This record gives sequence, C-alpha cells and structure tokens, in this order.
Amino acid sequence: MNTAWNHTSTLASHLINGILAVKPLYNLARHQARQMMIARAEKIGVPWRKQVQALRSHDWESELAKVQNPQLCYPDYYLTSFHAYEKGNLSWDAAFEVEVAAYAVHAGIWPDAGAQGDLKLRQSYHHILKQHVSPPPQDILDLGCSVGMSTFALQQVYPHAQITGADLSPYFLAVASYRSQQHHQNINWLHTAAEATGLPDACFDLVSIFLMCHELPQSATRQIFAEVRRLLRPGGYLGIMDMNPKSEVYKKMPAYVLTLLKSTEPYLDEYFSLDIEQTLKDTGFQIATIACNSPRHRTIVARVSD
Ligand SMILES: C[S@@+](CC[C@H](N)C(=O)[O-])C[C@H]1O[C@@H](n2cnc3c(N)ncnc32)[C@H](O)[C@@H]1O
Repeated sequence: MNTAWNHTSTLASHLINGILAVKPLYNLARHQARQMMIARAEKIGVPWRKQVQALRSHDWESELAKVQNPQLCYPDYYLTSFHAYEKGNLSWDAAFEVEVAAYAVHAGIWPDAGAQGDLKLRQSYHHILKQHVSPPPQDILDLGCSVGMSTFALQQVYPHAQITGADLSPYFLAVASYRSQQHHQNINWLHTAAEATGLPDACFDLVSIFLMCHELPQSATRQIFAEVRRLLRPGGYLGIMDMNPKSEVYKKMPAYVLTLLKSTEPYLDEYFSLDIEQTLKDTGFQIATIACNSPRHRTIVARVSD
C-alpha cells in the first residue's frame, strides 16, 4: 500500500515538474492557483481584492524614492521568481499582495485559527523570544522585514525599543514605510542586503529573522549569520522563526505537493538540508533554545558566544 502510494506520488511529482516546465501550462497552473488562493482568503474574511485595490490606488513613486538605495547591487540568487511572481520580490504586485497572502497561507497552520493564524504564529514566536531574551532589547533589527508585518509586531512586543527593518525589496519597503507613516510609528527602514548591511559593528541587542531563511541559499545564510554576529553587542541575541524541516507535516507531505511548494520556493531544498544549529555554532553563537512554535514552524534563539 505504502509502496503503491509512494510510486503514485512520485509519478504525480514527475507529472507536475513536466507541466511546470512548459511555460503556457505553468502560467495556467499559476493563474488557477492564484484564483483558488484569493477565493479561499475571501471566504475566511481576508478582503484580498479590496485591500490590493486600495493599495494600488496610492501614488507609490514618491514612497519608493524615500526608501530605495539606487546604488544597491542585488545578489544573483534574489533575482529569480518567488511565490509564483515572475519578478519575485522586486515588483509592486508582490508588494501589494504579500500581507493578504500571509493571512491566507497561515490560516492553515492550526485547524481553527482561520484568518487569525498569522497573528497566532507571530505571537507564538514572541512568546519564546520573551522567555529567552533578557533584559528586553533596546535596539532591534528585523532582517527580511518585507512590508513590515514582523517589524510592527516586534514594535508591539518591545514598545520602548528603537527598531530598524531591512529588506532587499524597495517595493516591500515602500509599503512598510507608508504603513508606518499612517500609524505614526518611528521605524528606520533600510534598503540593503542582510549579508552586508553597511551598519556599524555592535549596534543591536536583538536581530530577528522571521521567515527569511527558507528563501536563501546556504552560502547566503552563512554570510548573513556572520553579519548578524558583527552587528550584535556582546551578549546580544538572534531570533529565527521559520519552517521546521523536522516537522511531521513536511515528512508526511506527498511528493507532488512538495514539488508544487518547491516550484514557488527556489531554495527550499538548500534550507531543508542545512544544519542550522551547527552553522550558528560555527559562526560564534550558542543556542539558547530550539522550540516548535507551530505544527510546522520552529523558533531558534541564539546568543553571541562569550
Ligand atoms: C517571506 S518574507 C519575510 C516576511 C516578513 N519578515 C514577515 O514576517 O512578514 C522574506 C523577506 O526576506 C527578504 N530577503 C530575502 N533575501 C534577503 C537578503 N539577502 N537581504 C535582505 N532581505 C532579504 C525578501 O525580500 C522578503 O521580503
């Protein structure tokens, strides 16, 4: 039974790879998947089309100019398709949809959470951070901050901290910056690569990386950990929240579903095979905890070694 199922699943996986390799079929599959995602989101009360429409009607060129660093060179691995957006994270389409997409995707983490799944995921991470990060950090860096969801959430947990959000996508940062102006929040937005931020040594007590590592090749992850080590003060902390490769959810996932997932996440294999604990130790961190914070996510808190 198991062998038959594995065989069928592998065949389905080959079939999906074949379909995805043919551009018109790929585009059709992408369109269908998008429509299903939007319908599912709206069914649970996430106003996908309304929110995206409202964002589209704003004048974004001036927001972009406020945050964009025109001198920045993008690493090659970043200039690829992510999440079925052809231009990956470097597009307005992705920037306008990333928040509603997060609500839709995270709705499936816990059976009853619905649209509250995203909030619950962030709270579960913060719960672990607060247990291990002491004293409360004064200066925080949110690496891979995207449109600011993780940054605003950190600001709520640590209202007295000065927070910087850094990301490679100027489109995401433009939305983040616009949102912080709307809510009169004093956050520093930085258009930079996490592996070479250009920030001074030892200027943060906590660096947080929420759902970025699975989007990185292993070489980039290593460079980013070294950069974080440089940016942290003695005794400073690194918090990482991401997919848990050891979770039963991924172990039991049919091969063809994993194939579909990998078609939207180009570095997932590298992320799943990285020994993150050893990589952190090699970079000069000691592990404070590695804990499951959802059925398919894990939180790592690491501290600069003495
Ligand atoms: C899945 S999103 C993270 C979302 C965000 N932290 C949140 O909680 O909603 C990953 C982010 O990492 C950013 N990113 C990927 N590689 C990066 C790098 N090398 N330097 C800076 N940002 C990067 C992407 O642009 C994207 O915004």
